[in-house]
Amino acid sequence: MTRHRTDAPGAVTVRVPAKVNVRLAVGAARPDGFHDLANAFLAVSLHDEVTVRPAEALTVTCEGPGADLVPLDGTNLAARAATLLAARHGIEPAVHIHIAKDIPVAGGMAGGSADGAGALLACDTLWGLGSTRAELLDICAELGSDVPFSLVGGAALGTGRGERLTPLDTGGTFHWVFAVADGGLSTPAVYGEFDRLTAGTEVPAPEAPPALLAALRSGDATALAAALANDLQPAALSLRPALRATLDTGLAAGALAAIVSGSGPTTAYLVKDEESARAVAAALTASGTCRTARTATSPAAGATIL
Ligand code: C5P
Repeated sequence: MTRHRTDAPGAVTVRVPAKVNVRLAVGAARPDGFHDLANAFLAVSLHDEVTVRPAEALTVTCEGPGADLVPLDGTNLAARAATLLAARHGIEPAVHIHIAKDIPVAGGMAGGSADGAGALLACDTLWGLGSTRAELLDICAELGSDVPFSLVGGAALGTGRGERLTPLDTGGTFHWVFAVADGGLSTPAVYGEFDRLTAGTEVPAPEAPPALLAALRSGDATALAAALANDLQPAALSLRPALRATLDTGLAAGALAAIVSGSGPTTAYLVKDEESARAVAAALTASGTCRTARTATSPAAGATIL
């Protein structure tokens, strides 16, 4: 039975940010198949909006760039979030979920995770459940390693498989360009390639270096550029060698640093200011080495009810 409250809102919309990993340190594969991480996340100002409203049964629709690549069945993270939350409260997940997409799909920017976190907060509000932040974070961790960060936003260090978060201080606004590639890359496939490339080598325990944390605290983009690193980058480049030319194009146009975002294939360019962001985005777009380029800033707020 769906619980309907007479004062319940007719629809709830939540805005959720994308993320970039400024340090993605990956340890050896664990017995459960996941990898221990030291994952420094920054939320960036590219957003999806997730709207939920009461319906006969759980349905999902999606609009925006790459919407045709988003599954609309029970595997969609937003649908899974609604189902998990409803199950915990013994109610039916009778909602229509609409996702207005702006985060690149399967791009290594946690777009699916953002939709999961957004749907969770939206359903909790629609159903008047009043879950605590800890209860929501627990469900987020069950949904996926990056989902807790999508809920909290800002800047945080993820340990374990990335789901255990410690907030990080940031001292200013960082400017970014993101080059969106054609098609996606599967996260498990990229981790699998990481395992293949590191087979027979000693993979060190993952750590976030003090220089990175200091750069974030100071808001110094040049210092952050020197500390950017992604252990999944060789694996993403191995699966998608053309990304090397995209990275080089952004660097030649004046980016302070260029990196594959998460498991890719989106690439991220840290730039010194808004003007440089426009120049790097224009060069990337003109080069034909990516589908489109977007500018954004960080940190950005986590999931927010509109
Ligand atoms: O947690 P999530 O569902 O986002 O993970 C997707 C896939 O990425 C996992 O099935 C696993 O293959 C890989 N992964 C990993 N180690 C992590 C996070 C993700 O191997 N810490």
